[in-house]
Amino acid sequence: MHDKRPIIIDCDPGHDDAIALLMAFACDRLDIRLVTTVGGNQTPDKTINNALKVLSYANIEVEVAAGASKPLMRDLITAPEVHGESGLEGPALPPPTLKRSTRNAITAMADVIGKSKEKVTIISTGPLTNTATLLLTHPDTAYKIERISLMGGSCIGGNWTPAAEFNILVDPEAAGIVFDSGIPITMCGLDVTHKAQIYKDEIEKVRNIDNKVAKMVAELLDYFELFHKKFGFEGSPMHDPCAVAYIINPDLFTTEAYHVDIETQGEFTTGATVADMRHVLGKEKNVDVALDIDREAFIRLLIECMMYYG
Ligand code: BDR
Ligand code: CA
Repeated sequence: MHDKRPIIIDCDPGHDDAIALLMAFACDRLDIRLVTTVGGNQTPDKTINNALKVLSYANIEVEVAAGASKPLMRDLITAPEVHGESGLEGPALPPPTLKRSTRNAITAMADVIGKSKEKVTIISTGPLTNTATLLLTHPDTAYKIERISLMGGSCIGGNWTPAAEFNILVDPEAAGIVFDSGIPITMCGLDVTHKAQIYKDEIEKVRNIDNKVAKMVAELLDYFELFHKKFGFEGSPMHDPCAVAYIINPDLFTTEAYHVDIETQGEFTTGATVADMRHVLGKEKNVDVALDIDREAFIRLLIECMMYYG
């Protein structure tokens, strides 16, 4: 019997963040000690409220702490086009019963990591502002971080600009600090998340699960699908659930280690994750980039996780 793996989830819910959270809490091998939120898909006040609403609806008790109010050096970009005005349009969720922590996310992260006997894994599904701030203000925490599994980046062009994926674009300076930290990183970027689509018949399977959380997730997926349909996707990419699924079962993924730098200065390319896929620089490989996924097994995992809420 293995000990449960200590986890912090840093997120900006967000439809796919909400599903990622619910998948993580359904896995009995994960010990989620803290959820932190950041501005991204919506403003910071909305993302923490969304996290609290989803967790309350699923009867999950955990500390939820709000983090950075804006990116390190830039104004916040949000994504109402994808996630709506609330950041979580679709299901009508009641006001949260869970209260936000009185601690700020960075203090809470440092405390959880400092007190943990084992190294802690961070799952990041939003802009990397909180994690970068943690590393800047509490550099001694770095050696106690086992790995950062993050949704962000792309080797195949962006989704918010031609070059940049949304999470990295929102705070490229923060991403640069995290990618240069020496902490093991798994990057679940668009390379893999566009292969991790959920299709209509699979959304129906989620809806048919006999519990209210699964039905709420199906409504989140209905809304998420509307945006992706406009852009010609057959299904909806399950971006953030990939970062969780990698920690639950890395065997679902094919990864390659590359040296990856973050572009912060580009006229057209700010926020790009520049992966040295041909190893032309000869620099140390700092990121395990997820390139492929066993999609069907991943969707089976997602569905199994939703059954847990029965
Ligand atoms: C990422 O951006 C957000 O809209 C999603 O929640 C995901 O984290 C995809 O680019
Ligand atoms: Ca997200």
